[in-house]
Amino acid sequence: MSSEHKDVDQHSGTETTGHEWDGIKELNTPLPKWWLYTFYVTVVWALGYFIVFPAIPYFDGSKWDATGGVINYDQRAVVAEAVEENEARLKPYTEAIVKASFQEILADQELMDVAYAGGSIAFKENCAGCHGTGAQGFVAFPNLNDDDWLWGGTIEDIHQTITHGIRWEQDYDTRYSQMPSFGSDEILEKEDIKDVTQYVMQLGGLDHSAEAAARGATVFEEQCSVCHAADGKGDKTQGAPNLTDAIWLFGSDRETIYETIYYARNSVMPAWKERLDEATIKKLAVYVYSLGGGVEPSDAAAR
Ligand code: HEC
Ligand code: HEC
Repeated sequence: MSSEHKDVDQHSGTETTGHEWDGIKELNTPLPKWWLYTFYVTVVWALGYFIVFPAIPYFDGSKWDATGGVINYDQRAVVAEAVEENEARLKPYTEAIVKASFQEILADQELMDVAYAGGSIAFKENCAGCHGTGAQGFVAFPNLNDDDWLWGGTIEDIHQTITHGIRWEQDYDTRYSQMPSFGSDEILEKEDIKDVTQYVMQLGGLDHSAEAAARGATVFEEQCSVCHAADGKGDKTQGAPNLTDAIWLFGSDRETIYETIYYARNSVMPAWKERLDEATIKKLAVYVYSLGGGVEPSDAAAR
Protein backbone atom coordinates (compact mmCIF):
# COMPACT_ATOMS: atom_id res chain seq x y z
CA MET A 1 0.00 0.00 0.00
CA SER A 2 1.47 3.40 -0.92
CA SER A 3 1.32 6.25 1.52
CA GLU A 4 -1.33 8.17 -0.43
CA HIS A 5 -3.80 5.38 0.28
CA LYS A 6 -3.22 5.44 3.97
CA ASP A 7 -6.28 6.49 5.85
CA VAL A 8 -5.32 8.70 8.78
CA ASP A 9 -7.77 9.59 11.49
CA GLN A 10 -7.90 13.39 11.59
CA HIS A 11 -8.71 13.66 15.25
CA SER A 12 -5.85 11.52 16.68
CA GLY A 13 -3.45 11.59 13.76
CA THR A 14 -3.24 7.78 13.91
CA GLU A 15 -3.51 5.52 10.88
CA THR A 16 -6.65 3.37 10.72
CA THR A 17 -6.91 -0.31 9.77
CA GLY A 18 -9.36 0.58 7.02
CA HIS A 19 -12.18 -1.28 8.76
CA GLU A 20 -15.31 0.69 9.24
CA TRP A 21 -18.59 -0.06 10.97
CA ASP A 22 -21.42 2.39 10.85
CA GLY A 23 -18.95 5.25 10.29
CA ILE A 24 -16.69 4.21 13.17
CA LYS A 25 -13.12 3.44 12.09
CA GLU A 26 -10.67 1.21 13.91
CA LEU A 27 -7.34 2.90 14.75
CA ASN A 28 -4.15 0.97 14.06
CA THR A 29 -2.23 2.10 17.19
CA PRO A 30 1.33 0.69 17.11
CA LEU A 31 2.48 -1.38 20.09
CA PRO A 32 4.76 0.53 22.49
CA LYS A 33 8.42 -0.18 21.76
CA TRP A 34 9.22 -1.41 25.29
CA TRP A 35 6.40 -3.96 25.05
CA LEU A 36 7.49 -5.19 21.64
CA TYR A 37 11.14 -5.68 22.65
CA THR A 38 10.19 -7.44 25.87
CA PHE A 39 8.03 -9.75 23.79
CA TYR A 40 10.94 -10.56 21.43
CA VAL A 41 13.16 -11.28 24.45
CA THR A 42 10.61 -13.78 25.85
CA VAL A 43 10.42 -15.53 22.47
CA VAL A 44 14.20 -15.88 22.33
CA TRP A 45 14.24 -17.04 25.97
CA ALA A 46 11.58 -19.68 25.28
CA LEU A 47 13.50 -21.05 22.29
CA GLY A 48 16.70 -21.19 24.36
CA TYR A 49 14.83 -22.92 27.20
CA PHE A 50 13.47 -25.54 24.81
CA ILE A 51 16.99 -26.35 23.69
CA VAL A 52 18.68 -26.36 27.10
CA PHE A 53 16.04 -27.91 29.41
CA PRO A 54 13.72 -30.93 29.16
CA ALA A 55 10.70 -29.50 27.39
CA ILE A 56 8.84 -31.50 24.79
CA PRO A 57 6.75 -34.38 26.14
CA TYR A 58 6.48 -37.58 24.12
CA PHE A 59 5.18 -41.11 24.64
CA ASP A 60 7.97 -43.65 24.32
CA GLY A 61 5.61 -46.58 23.80
CA SER A 62 5.20 -47.50 27.45
CA LYS A 63 5.31 -44.26 29.42
CA TRP A 64 5.35 -40.52 29.09
CA ASP A 65 8.76 -38.93 28.93
CA ALA A 66 10.21 -35.62 27.72
CA THR A 67 13.15 -34.51 25.62
CA GLY A 68 16.19 -34.17 27.87
CA GLY A 69 17.51 -30.84 26.55
CA VAL A 70 21.25 -30.34 26.05
CA ILE A 71 22.01 -30.42 29.80
CA ASN A 72 19.75 -33.46 30.36
CA TYR A 73 18.53 -32.06 33.69
CA ASP A 74 16.37 -34.41 35.80
CA GLN A 75 15.01 -33.33 39.18
CA ARG A 76 14.44 -36.94 40.21
CA ALA A 77 18.08 -37.74 39.56
CA VAL A 78 19.13 -34.66 41.54
CA VAL A 79 17.02 -35.77 44.53
CA ALA A 80 18.18 -39.39 44.29
CA GLU A 81 21.76 -38.21 44.23
CA ALA A 82 21.24 -35.99 47.28
CA VAL A 83 19.60 -38.86 49.18
CA GLU A 84 22.44 -41.18 48.24
CA GLU A 85 25.04 -38.64 49.32
CA ASN A 86 23.29 -38.14 52.64
CA GLU A 87 23.06 -41.88 53.25
CA ALA A 88 26.72 -42.33 52.45
CA ARG A 89 27.56 -39.52 54.87
CA LEU A 90 25.43 -41.11 57.63
CA LYS A 91 26.42 -44.73 56.99
CA PRO A 92 29.41 -44.84 59.33
CA TYR A 93 27.26 -43.34 62.10
CA THR A 94 24.38 -45.72 61.48
CA GLU A 95 26.76 -48.68 61.64
CA ALA A 96 28.31 -47.32 64.82
CA ILE A 97 24.87 -46.90 66.38
CA VAL A 98 23.97 -50.53 65.65
CA LYS A 99 27.24 -51.75 67.20
CA ALA A 100 27.41 -49.46 70.21
CA SER A 101 25.66 -50.09 73.53
CA PHE A 102 23.21 -47.45 74.68
CA GLN A 103 25.67 -46.31 77.33
CA GLU A 104 28.25 -45.74 74.59
CA ILE A 105 25.78 -43.84 72.43
CA LEU A 106 24.68 -41.63 75.31
CA ALA A 107 28.30 -40.84 76.16
CA ASP A 108 29.22 -39.89 72.59
CA GLN A 109 27.85 -36.48 71.64
CA GLU A 110 28.26 -37.05 67.91
CA LEU A 111 26.43 -40.40 67.90
CA MET A 112 23.81 -38.91 70.21
CA ASP A 113 23.13 -36.07 67.81
CA VAL A 114 22.79 -38.38 64.80
CA ALA A 115 20.56 -40.77 66.77
CA TYR A 116 18.38 -37.98 68.10
CA ALA A 117 17.95 -36.34 64.70
CA GLY A 118 17.21 -39.67 62.98
CA GLY A 119 14.87 -40.73 65.78
CA SER A 120 12.98 -37.49 65.56
CA ILE A 121 12.33 -38.02 61.83
CA ALA A 122 11.40 -41.71 62.28
CA PHE A 123 9.06 -40.70 65.10
CA LYS A 124 7.16 -38.26 62.89
CA GLU A 125 6.88 -40.90 60.18
CA ASN A 126 5.83 -43.87 62.32
CA CYS A 127 4.65 -42.83 65.74
CA ALA A 128 3.09 -39.38 65.50
CA GLY A 129 -0.22 -40.81 64.26
CA CYS A 130 -0.85 -42.32 67.69
CA HIS A 131 1.41 -40.37 70.05
CA GLY A 132 1.16 -36.93 68.39
CA THR A 133 3.89 -35.05 66.47
CA GLY A 134 5.32 -33.68 69.70
CA ALA A 135 4.81 -37.07 71.46
CA GLN A 136 2.31 -35.27 73.70
CA GLY A 137 -0.10 -38.22 73.44
CA PHE A 138 -3.88 -38.38 73.38
CA VAL A 139 -6.52 -40.17 75.44
CA ALA A 140 -5.39 -43.85 75.57
CA PHE A 141 -2.07 -42.99 73.87
CA PRO A 142 0.53 -42.09 76.46
CA ASN A 143 2.42 -38.82 76.52
CA LEU A 144 6.09 -39.71 76.06
CA ASN A 145 7.43 -36.33 77.17
CA ASP A 146 6.73 -36.68 80.85
CA ASP A 147 8.96 -38.90 82.93
CA ASP A 148 6.03 -41.15 83.83
CA TRP A 149 6.22 -44.62 82.31
CA LEU A 150 3.82 -47.52 82.11
CA TRP A 151 6.44 -50.07 81.14
CA GLY A 152 9.62 -48.43 82.38
CA GLY A 153 11.69 -45.45 81.33
CA THR A 154 15.25 -46.73 81.13
CA ILE A 155 16.53 -46.62 77.58
CA GLU A 156 16.60 -50.44 77.52
CA ASP A 157 12.95 -50.55 78.67
CA ILE A 158 11.95 -48.13 75.93
CA HIS A 159 13.92 -50.09 73.33
CA GLN A 160 12.17 -53.29 74.41
CA THR A 161 8.73 -51.64 74.23
CA ILE A 162 9.33 -50.27 70.72
CA THR A 163 10.89 -53.48 69.42
CA HIS A 164 8.23 -55.91 70.66
CA GLY A 165 5.17 -53.71 71.11
CA ILE A 166 2.51 -53.96 73.78
CA ARG A 167 -0.08 -56.77 73.77
CA TRP A 168 1.01 -57.40 70.17
CA GLU A 169 0.10 -61.03 69.98
CA GLN A 170 2.18 -61.89 66.92
CA ASP A 171 5.31 -61.08 68.95
CA TYR A 172 6.35 -63.69 71.47
CA ASP A 173 8.33 -61.14 73.54
CA THR A 174 5.66 -58.46 73.54
CA ARG A 175 4.86 -56.54 76.73
CA TYR A 176 1.87 -58.28 78.16
CA SER A 177 -0.67 -58.01 80.95
CA GLN A 178 -4.42 -58.05 81.05
CA MET A 179 -6.50 -56.05 83.46
CA PRO A 180 -9.69 -58.06 83.97
CA SER A 181 -13.02 -56.63 82.80
CA PHE A 182 -14.42 -56.50 86.31
CA GLY A 183 -17.93 -55.52 85.24
CA SER A 184 -18.54 -57.16 81.89
CA ASP A 185 -16.98 -60.42 83.10
CA GLU A 186 -19.03 -60.24 86.31
CA ILE A 187 -16.06 -60.43 88.63
CA LEU A 188 -17.38 -57.56 90.74
CA GLU A 189 -20.87 -56.24 91.50
CA LYS A 190 -21.70 -52.78 90.16
CA GLU A 191 -21.77 -51.47 93.75
CA ASP A 192 -18.23 -52.74 94.34
CA ILE A 193 -17.08 -51.07 91.13
CA LYS A 194 -18.70 -47.79 92.24
CA ASP A 195 -16.92 -48.05 95.58
CA VAL A 196 -13.52 -48.88 94.13
CA THR A 197 -13.99 -46.02 91.65
CA GLN A 198 -14.30 -43.68 94.64
CA TYR A 199 -11.20 -45.25 96.17
CA VAL A 200 -9.23 -44.70 92.95
CA MET A 201 -10.38 -41.06 93.02
CA GLN A 202 -9.16 -40.77 96.58
CA LEU A 203 -5.79 -42.23 95.57
CA GLY A 204 -5.59 -39.68 92.74
CA GLY A 205 -6.41 -36.76 95.05
CA LEU A 206 -9.76 -36.13 93.33
CA ASP A 207 -13.09 -35.20 94.92
CA HIS A 208 -14.65 -38.41 96.24
CA SER A 209 -17.03 -39.84 98.79
CA ALA A 210 -14.97 -40.91 101.82
CA GLU A 211 -17.54 -43.49 102.87
CA ALA A 212 -17.63 -45.29 99.50
CA ALA A 213 -13.84 -45.02 99.19
CA ALA A 214 -13.41 -46.79 102.55
CA ARG A 215 -15.47 -49.72 101.25
CA GLY A 216 -13.58 -49.55 97.94
CA ALA A 217 -10.24 -49.85 99.73
CA THR A 218 -11.04 -53.46 100.58
CA VAL A 219 -11.99 -54.24 97.00
CA PHE A 220 -8.76 -52.61 95.83
CA GLU A 221 -6.67 -54.62 98.25
CA GLU A 222 -8.24 -57.86 97.00
CA GLN A 223 -8.59 -57.24 93.27
CA CYS A 224 -6.30 -54.46 92.16
CA SER A 225 -3.20 -54.36 94.31
CA VAL A 226 -1.60 -57.34 92.51
CA CYS A 227 -1.04 -55.01 89.58
CA HIS A 228 -1.45 -51.45 90.82
CA ALA A 229 0.42 -52.21 94.11
CA ALA A 230 -0.96 -51.86 97.63
CA ASP A 231 -0.20 -48.12 97.66
CA GLY A 232 -1.68 -47.64 94.16
CA LYS A 233 1.66 -46.58 92.70
CA GLY A 234 1.52 -49.19 89.95
CA ASP A 235 3.88 -51.84 88.62
CA LYS A 236 6.02 -51.27 85.54
CA THR A 237 6.61 -54.99 84.95
CA GLN A 238 2.85 -55.23 84.22
CA GLY A 239 2.35 -51.83 82.63
CA ALA A 240 -0.06 -50.98 85.46
CA PRO A 241 -0.19 -47.21 85.85
CA ASN A 242 0.42 -45.27 89.01
CA LEU A 243 -3.04 -44.21 90.17
CA THR A 244 -1.78 -41.69 92.73
CA ASP A 245 -0.31 -39.12 90.35
CA ALA A 246 -2.24 -36.55 88.35
CA ILE A 247 -1.48 -38.33 85.06
CA TRP A 248 -4.43 -40.19 83.58
CA LEU A 249 -4.23 -42.24 80.44
CA PHE A 250 -7.98 -42.50 79.92
CA GLY A 251 -9.36 -39.57 81.93
CA SER A 252 -9.98 -38.70 85.56
CA ASP A 253 -13.73 -38.15 85.69
CA ARG A 254 -15.88 -40.64 87.60
CA GLU A 255 -17.60 -42.13 84.51
CA THR A 256 -14.31 -42.78 82.72
CA ILE A 257 -12.70 -44.44 85.72
CA TYR A 258 -15.83 -46.53 86.25
CA GLU A 259 -15.74 -47.60 82.59
CA THR A 260 -12.06 -48.47 82.75
CA ILE A 261 -12.72 -50.79 85.69
CA TYR A 262 -15.96 -52.18 84.21
CA TYR A 263 -14.60 -53.03 80.74
CA ALA A 264 -10.81 -52.72 81.13
CA ARG A 265 -8.84 -51.22 78.24
CA ASN A 266 -5.79 -53.32 77.45
CA SER A 267 -4.54 -51.06 74.68
CA VAL A 268 -2.29 -52.37 71.96
CA MET A 269 0.84 -50.97 70.38
CA PRO A 270 2.40 -52.69 67.34
CA ALA A 271 5.85 -54.26 67.50
CA TRP A 272 8.26 -52.40 65.25
CA LYS A 273 10.98 -54.95 64.71
CA GLU A 274 9.42 -56.23 61.50
CA ARG A 275 8.90 -52.81 60.04
CA LEU A 276 11.98 -50.86 61.08
CA ASP A 277 15.65 -51.82 61.07
CA GLU A 278 17.63 -52.03 64.28
CA ALA A 279 19.44 -48.73 63.67
CA THR A 280 16.12 -46.89 63.36
CA ILE A 281 14.67 -48.56 66.46
CA LYS A 282 17.77 -47.61 68.45
CA LYS A 283 17.54 -44.04 67.21
CA LEU A 284 13.89 -43.99 68.26
CA ALA A 285 14.77 -45.31 71.71
CA VAL A 286 17.37 -42.56 72.11
CA TYR A 287 14.89 -39.95 70.91
CA VAL A 288 12.03 -41.09 73.18
CA TYR A 289 14.43 -41.44 76.10
CA SER A 290 15.59 -37.84 75.57
CA LEU A 291 11.98 -36.62 75.44
CA GLY A 292 11.27 -38.19 78.80
CA GLY A 293 14.02 -36.10 80.34
CA GLY A 294 16.57 -38.90 80.16
CA VAL A 295 19.28 -36.95 78.42
CA GLU A 296 19.73 -33.69 76.57
CA PRO A 297 20.84 -33.66 72.94
CA SER A 298 23.22 -30.87 71.97
CA ASP A 299 21.64 -27.67 70.63
CA ALA A 300 22.53 -28.64 67.07
CA ALA A 301 20.57 -31.90 67.16
CA ALA A 302 17.61 -30.42 68.99
CA ARG A 303 17.01 -27.95 66.17
C1 HEC B 1 -1.33 -47.72 66.62
C2 HEC B 1 -0.98 -46.73 67.63
C3 HEC B 1 0.46 -46.62 68.05
C4 HEC B 1 1.56 -46.38 67.26
C5 HEC B 1 1.62 -46.22 65.76
C6 HEC B 1 2.67 -46.26 68.16
N1 HEC B 1 2.26 -46.43 69.45
FE1 HEC B 1 3.44 -46.38 71.10
N2 HEC B 1 1.84 -46.84 72.25
C7 HEC B 1 0.54 -47.00 71.82
C8 HEC B 1 -0.31 -47.31 72.94
C9 HEC B 1 -1.82 -47.53 72.89
C10 HEC B 1 0.51 -47.38 74.08
C11 HEC B 1 0.08 -47.68 75.50
C12 HEC B 1 -0.22 -49.13 75.69
C13 HEC B 1 -0.59 -49.44 77.11
O1 HEC B 1 -1.65 -48.98 77.55
O2 HEC B 1 0.20 -50.13 77.77
C14 HEC B 1 1.87 -47.07 73.61
C15 HEC B 1 2.97 -47.03 74.42
C16 HEC B 1 4.25 -46.69 74.02
C17 HEC B 1 5.40 -46.65 74.88
C18 HEC B 1 5.43 -46.98 76.35
C19 HEC B 1 5.15 -45.79 77.18
C20 HEC B 1 5.26 -46.05 78.63
O3 HEC B 1 4.75 -45.21 79.39
O4 HEC B 1 5.86 -47.05 79.04
C21 HEC B 1 6.47 -46.23 74.12
C22 HEC B 1 7.88 -46.01 74.58
C23 HEC B 1 5.97 -46.04 72.78
N3 HEC B 1 4.63 -46.32 72.74
C24 HEC B 1 6.74 -45.63 71.72
C25 HEC B 1 6.30 -45.64 70.40
C26 HEC B 1 7.15 -45.38 69.26
C27 HEC B 1 8.63 -45.01 69.34
C28 HEC B 1 6.37 -45.51 68.16
C29 HEC B 1 6.79 -45.41 66.70
C30 HEC B 1 7.82 -46.29 66.24
C31 HEC B 1 5.02 -45.83 68.59
N4 HEC B 1 5.02 -45.89 69.96
C32 HEC B 1 3.95 -46.01 67.75
C33 HEC B 1 0.10 -46.87 70.53
C34 HEC B 1 0.91 -46.65 69.42
C1 HEC C 1 -3.67 -57.80 85.76
C2 HEC C 1 -3.27 -56.49 86.18
C3 HEC C 1 -4.33 -55.48 86.58
C4 HEC C 1 -5.31 -55.61 87.53
C5 HEC C 1 -5.65 -56.81 88.38
C6 HEC C 1 -5.99 -54.33 87.58
N1 HEC C 1 -5.44 -53.47 86.69
FE1 HEC C 1 -6.02 -51.56 86.36
N2 HEC C 1 -4.72 -51.42 84.82
C7 HEC C 1 -3.84 -52.40 84.45
C8 HEC C 1 -3.12 -51.98 83.28
C9 HEC C 1 -2.06 -52.78 82.55
C10 HEC C 1 -3.62 -50.70 82.94
C11 HEC C 1 -3.14 -49.81 81.82
C12 HEC C 1 -3.58 -49.53 80.61
C13 HEC C 1 -4.33 -50.38 79.65
O1 HEC C 1 -5.11 -51.24 80.05
O2 HEC C 1 -4.15 -50.10 78.45
C14 HEC C 1 -4.61 -50.38 83.95
C15 HEC C 1 -5.33 -49.20 83.99
C16 HEC C 1 -6.17 -48.83 85.02
C17 HEC C 1 -6.79 -47.54 85.15
C18 HEC C 1 -6.63 -46.36 84.19
C19 HEC C 1 -5.63 -45.37 84.72
C20 HEC C 1 -5.45 -44.16 83.84
O3 HEC C 1 -4.37 -43.56 83.91
O4 HEC C 1 -6.37 -43.77 83.10
C21 HEC C 1 -7.55 -47.58 86.28
C22 HEC C 1 -8.39 -46.47 86.84
C23 HEC C 1 -7.40 -48.89 86.82
N3 HEC C 1 -6.56 -49.63 86.04
C24 HEC C 1 -8.02 -49.33 87.98
C25 HEC C 1 -8.01 -50.66 88.42
C26 HEC C 1 -8.82 -51.13 89.48
C27 HEC C 1 -9.74 -50.30 90.33
C28 HEC C 1 -8.57 -52.47 89.59
C29 HEC C 1 -9.20 -53.46 90.53
C30 HEC C 1 -10.62 -53.51 90.57
C31 HEC C 1 -7.58 -52.80 88.60
N4 HEC C 1 -7.28 -51.67 87.88
C32 HEC C 1 -7.04 -54.04 88.42
C33 HEC C 1 -3.63 -53.62 85.06
C34 HEC C 1 -4.43 -54.13 86.07
